This record gives sequence, structure tokens and C-alpha cells, in this order.
Amino acid sequence: MEYEKLVSQALQARKNAYAPYSNFKVGAAVLTNDGKIFTGCNIENASYGATNCAERTAIFKAVSEGYTTIKAIAIVGVQNDYTYPCGICRQVIAEFATDDTKIILGKNDTEYLVKTLDEILPGAFTKKDLGK
Ligand code: THU
Repeated sequence: MEYEKLVSQALQARKNAYAPYSNFKVGAAVLTNDGKIFTGCNIENASYGATNCAERTAIFKAVSEGYTTIKAIAIVGVQNDYTYPCGICRQVIAEFATDDTKIILGKNDTEYLVKTLDEILPGAFTKKDLGK
């Protein structure tokens, strides 16, 4: 199953999380419309504010390689529960999402929730608003 594969890649990426301050490890895996997968982990910083979330690491890797449409993104944080993306990450997902983009919240290898962006960021401000 495509989603399970994405969750397991996010779990794998979580192992590289650099989280010496919070000890809260997060992994993410982005599936682009072209079928490519980019993974990411959270990368903390002594300044705290320069910390980058796992979702943004994965998305920025994809975009910097020329892949700008997210088909699905899996996120795995705290073990044995679901970790939702933070507000900034929801906004960044919105930038590269379509109405069909799936946000997969992984609990473990086999248990996950599938959400749409509209469910987790209703009324999102997007590039469509800028033209108004
Ligand atoms: N974190 C993520 O990587 N993604 C989220 O959506 C929530 C928060 C990270 C940032 C920080 O390194 C740690 O989790 C605690 O906030």
C-alpha cells in the first residue's frame, strides 16, 4: 500500500532527527505527483527559533530539486499516537498541495490517519487570495 510505504519512510527519516533540546523526534516523507519520494526530519538549533520541522525539511528538499506538487505527505512524531503538523508546516503544505493532497498521520508502521488539507487547515490563505 502506497500510504504504508510513505509512513515507513517517515519512520526511517525520524531516526535522523536532530532534536537535542526537545527530544521530540519527527520524520516526514513527501510523495510528489511525479512519484518521487523525499524524506526529512526535524533539525533543531541552539537558538530554538532556527529549528526546522520534519515536514518542511522534506518539502524544501523536494522543491529545491524541482518537484513542486505534493500528492501525499506522511508525518510520524511521538510514538504510538498521531502527530499533526504545526501551523507553519500546514501553511507550507498548502503552498504545494492540491485539493487531492493527502496528509497521512502515522502512529506506527500499520496504523495511520488520512486527512485532507481542508480538514486540517480550513479556509487556508493561498496564492489564490493574492490575485483578488
Ligand atoms: N516538529 C516537527 O518537526 N513537526 C511538527 O509539525 C511539529 C513540531 C518538531 C519541531 C521541534 O524540533 C520539535 O518537533 C518540538 O516542537
